Amino acid sequence: MIQLHDKQFVPFISAKEIDLAIAKMAAQITADFSDEIPVFIGVLNGAFMVASDLMKCYDSPCEVSFVKMASYEGTSSTEEVKQLIGLNQDLTGRTVIVIEDIVDTGTTLVALKALFESKNVKHFKVATLFFKPEAYTKELPIDYVGIRIPNKFIVGYGLDYDGLGRNLPEVYQLKD
Ligand code: IMP
Ligand code: MG
Repeated sequence: MIQLHDKQFVPFISAKEIDLAIAKMAAQITADFSDEIPVFIGVLNGAFMVASDLMKCYDSPCEVSFVKMASYEGTSSTEEVKQLIGLNQDLTGRTVIVIEDIVDTGTTLVALKALFESKNVKHFKVATLFFKPEAYTKELPIDYVGIRIPNKFIVGYGLDYDGLGRNLPEVYQLKD
């Protein structure tokens, strides 16, 4: 058991299970895109670990980059404008494969899709290590899923609880 801030977490998914899930995703993506040069884009901060390990398993030519999402309050009180920080590349006609650590409600993913489609990409694909089907509220299909998990809060392997836990090599879940 580990303690992060005020909460306790128990072991949930081992480093070995994570490795196997990532190797499987990499093989699927290779089979689908080895005839072109896809651009992998990791979504910071959470996806730094999965992006690194996925890229080491992907053995065809590819490019790798990272973005961060920023939300700004618009001029009207409820309006939220999402932006991508760090994308300084022309993606016109390219296949973009976004790498996410986790898809929960899908709100972030839908915003990402809109942002990338405005850049005239050829394909927009999503690879996420973790997916919470019970929490997902969107229609957008998720192309590559590593591990489906119940609707529980997890930390480790890039995922944090209020800034802590990202460095853990395996995944823990909130103790009930
Ligand atoms: P969304 O609800 O799919 O938009 O997910 C938003 C973000 O919430 C994810 O990118 C994560 O940063 C964070 N998140 C969702 N579920 C968890 C979790 O179980 N642990 C840690 N962060 C999470
Ligand atoms: Mg995230």
